[in-house]
Amino acid sequence: MTTSLLATLRHALRGAFETAGFDPETVIVETSRRPELGQFQCNSAMQLAKTHRTKPRDIAERLVAALGAVPFITDLAIAGPGFVNFNLTDEFLAVRANDMAGDARLGFPKVEAPAKVVIDYGGPNVAKPMHVGHLRASIIGEALKRIMRFRGHDVVGDVHLGDWGLPIGMLIHELSLRQPGLPYFDAAKTEGFPEESPVTIDDLEEMYPAAVSRCRENDDDMQAARRKTAELQNGRPGYIALWRHFMQTSRASQAGDFDRLGVSFDLWRGESDVADLVQPLVRDLQARGIAEVDQGAILIRFKPAEDDGSEEEGEGDEEELTPLILVTSDGTVTYAATDLATIQDRVARLSPDLSLYVVDSRQGLHFRQVFEAAQRAGLNDGMGMEHIGFGTVNGPDGKPLKTRSGGVPRLGDLLDQANEEAGKRLAEHRLGLEFGEAERADIAHKVGLAAIKFADLNHQRTANYAFDLANFTRFEGKTGPYLLYTVVRLNSVLAKGGGVPADARFTAFSTQVERDLLIRIATLPEVLKRVEERRAPNVLCDFAYDLAQQINAFYHEVPVNQEPDPGRRAHLTLLVDVSARALTLVLELLGIEVPARM
Ligand code: ARG
Repeated sequence: MTTSLLATLRHALRGAFETAGFDPETVIVETSRRPELGQFQCNSAMQLAKTHRTKPRDIAERLVAALGAVPFITDLAIAGPGFVNFNLTDEFLAVRANDMAGDARLGFPKVEAPAKVVIDYGGPNVAKPMHVGHLRASIIGEALKRIMRFRGHDVVGDVHLGDWGLPIGMLIHELSLRQPGLPYFDAAKTEGFPEESPVTIDDLEEMYPAAVSRCRENDDDMQAARRKTAELQNGRPGYIALWRHFMQTSRASQAGDFDRLGVSFDLWRGESDVADLVQPLVRDLQARGIAEVDQGAILIRFKPAEDDGSEEEGEGDEEELTPLILVTSDGTVTYAATDLATIQDRVARLSPDLSLYVVDSRQGLHFRQVFEAAQRAGLNDGMGMEHIGFGTVNGPDGKPLKTRSGGVPRLGDLLDQANEEAGKRLAEHRLGLEFGEAERADIAHKVGLAAIKFADLNHQRTANYAFDLANFTRFEGKTGPYLLYTVVRLNSVLAKGGGVPADARFTAFSTQVERDLLIRIATLPEVLKRVEERRAPNVLCDFAYDLAQQINAFYHEVPVNQEPDPGRRAHLTLLVDVSARALTLVLELLGIEVPARM
């Protein structure tokens, strides 16, 4: 199948429009907003009435006459001022359903013109434990990656580690005060540094906040940390050796966290990977007059200087961006400079059509500056660049989530809490009590993750939301656990009925719930298109919930395994199978894994 159900309908309607003498470009067809009036509606009459200077109802009548000739359209009726409602024949629905059932992608087409897309997400910083701030970047980025990939785009996920900035300098400084005797601090020593890291991940996690408060409280320490960052960036061997240890130690811990989250990357690149590109890039920008030196720093100004009268036209309505510092006066390369060099590097390596940055909305100004600078310098070479911002995860007080002691909650701790809460809910519902301990733990893990991920994606991306595990882990309502339970129950219906018979075929659809369910599933391609266009995973969450509601309505109304007629039972079993596959697919696209049973 190369077209979606709605695309097939649109095609048929275009033909009918031409027959009736109407412009086929004006075809508007969608699933009905009032299902009691029909499965689909065509709302073109209102618009056509204007161009044809006649009543919408007259147009609708002509449309109905022409659509009557389409063999798979039935029950044509006009409602209100000129809405044309109609159904598909049950035979046509069955043919369509058989095509879907026989295809691994459920017959969902891929985009005709796939794009090469880089999604920059996750973005943890080396030497800092992953915390609540990385939750949304990871979950939203992963979902967008999976959705765009399923649609047929060539998508590359890049974790873009923060591994080359001031935080490293602060750590080097902190360690130099604590253990000044270590060989890394000997400026004369250039090689033969120990193989083994002088710090563990626990050391780093303790040292990092200590280093930050030390530097905040004392300006001399801050200066020293900045100097050490610049020396690292200029290749001082001892500091590079130390940085490698920090990198390896924290990478292992980050990989563990991402693994637990079910998030994975095609590229583990980072700021340090473009270190060699930064200086030449900055020099080039200076030579081209895009960057300038100001009080020892190198920066880009976005407005022409006051006395430069050459470009006053057309700049007036743009909001002025503050200057973007590339290299500070003490010689440290900034976050912005590495982001610019990364754009250059991505274009050279991958030539993407588009780069998406799934990063906290609070970095909005940074990305506006970076994108503007990249455009000016032509670094992006036509590649689109978009900041996919997101809101904060709040506590019950409506402020950014904190631990009891006021710190930033660690990602691992949040996942532990979700696990525990999910375990309690499962026990409350007496689910899986008879399973072994390891399986119960695995189910609790999957339910906890589903709870967190679905709640996160279900909130509008740019909105803040309150982290409320008791609410997220409920098995009723619009939650991850409810969706998991819905799939698991379908799979158990299938298992109890002995699976899908090899020769099973959809025959005729005969109840409203069956038809509605299949039609809902068949509209997924249009939903995914909208999700992609709006970069809005919450739209897919709405679909997932609506689909689950319909599945449950079907489950309660039609006792599949009790059906005495074998042909009809096979038809219903196939519908269960297609429904389970569709909901599993949607969950997978949201990054949510379904347990085998519960
Ligand atoms: N490491 C950054 C942070 O934690 C996020 C990186 C986002 N990606 C980027 N290309 N700037 O703030």
